[in-house]
Amino acid sequence: MRKLLVTGGAGFIGSNFIHYLLNQYDDVDIINLDKLTYAGNLANLKDVERHPHYQFVKGDICDKKLVDELMPEVQIVVNFAAESHVDRSIGSPDDFIKTDVFGAFVLLETARKNRIEKFIQISTDEVYGSIQDGSFTENDPLMPSSPYSASKAGADRLAFSYYVTYKLPVIVTRCSNNFGPYQYPEKLIPLFVTNAIEDKKLPIYGDGMNVRDWIFVDDHCRAIDFLMDNGEVGETYNIGAGNEKTNLFITDLILKHLEKSDELKTFVPDRLGHDRRYSVDCTKIRKLGWQPKYDFEDAIIETVLWYKRNADWWKQIKSGEYLEYYKQQYQTA
Ligand code: NAD
Ligand code: TYD
Repeated sequence: MRKLLVTGGAGFIGSNFIHYLLNQYDDVDIINLDKLTYAGNLANLKDVERHPHYQFVKGDICDKKLVDELMPEVQIVVNFAAESHVDRSIGSPDDFIKTDVFGAFVLLETARKNRIEKFIQISTDEVYGSIQDGSFTENDPLMPSSPYSASKAGADRLAFSYYVTYKLPVIVTRCSNNFGPYQYPEKLIPLFVTNAIEDKKLPIYGDGMNVRDWIFVDDHCRAIDFLMDNGEVGETYNIGAGNEKTNLFITDLILKHLEKSDELKTFVPDRLGHDRRYSVDCTKIRKLGWQPKYDFEDAIIETVLWYKRNADWWKQIKSGEYLEYYKQQYQTA
């Protein structure tokens, strides 16, 4: 039996990862440590809440006492917990520094003292910053340009330092933009799908020509699982599926699949410091034997259908704190 501490498991990727592991294996036990911030949602895990191999603990990764209690119970740590939305980091960066940097430090320090067998730090391709041509490899310098990506870069290199200094068996992953079920509807794809379903405007930043490399969340989960077994400690791995698309392309695709009018497209002032293009070279993980499984268009169709069928899930979210946030952003609510 392998026992994992999954942090941030009530969020988008973490909850997909927990579903993935429990579907895939009979011999994993999972403790999900999550603070349940605005982005954490236990509805994402309703179907597994009574699973014999799953336990939820509400708490903060910055809470040393709590992390000290949980760490001796597990062999593997997968750290998803983070403040994750670039726009929020521009408005108020404090929690990004606290959770993404200090929280990662608390986990690393406690893992070191407990001789954890593997520590997977979920970083992001955004730590490299923007690239005009070509793709970043794992050896390229980090040039993060938002408070979000800078805080993630801090944790990314802090994790590496724990390998170099203390020989903590750390693996760092840098994945590109994910999409799929249970993504909080403030990120591009779930925001635009749910707005379009409700015939609300789709706020396209700047000229809509910024490029992101999209990966279906299940492929990301498979890559993390693959690296837990096959990744080399002390190494960093880019993860991506080679689907570079402009935001306008994504917008048109969503409108097409929902059969909605072009008139919902609304150009709004650009995000501050908006990275033009992200692109990662994934030769390293591909050489190890991992490759994405999902076709991009099929996965988009599946995702659009999921949001159509699960309107209760996102309508519940699109109220309260969420509406306050959007009123401040665009006065559109
Ligand atoms: P998310 O915002 O949906 O979920 C984050 C989760 O972390 C939430 O459940 C939240 O409650 C929890 N959390 C926040 N602060 C916490 C704290 N102090 N203690 C415990 N739990 C806390 O984020 P996501 O999109 O699922 O991203 C997960 C991870 O993957 C993040 O580390 C992010 O940087 C990284 N990542 C995301 C993407 C993407 O496209 N979404 C791509 C690459 C990497
Ligand atoms: P986002 O989903 O926030 O991910 P990230 O900024 O971490 O890549 O945004 C993806 C792209 O979509 C990014 O170029 C910003 C753009 N975008 C919009 O044009 N409008 C929006 O309302 C949002 C949320 C994002």
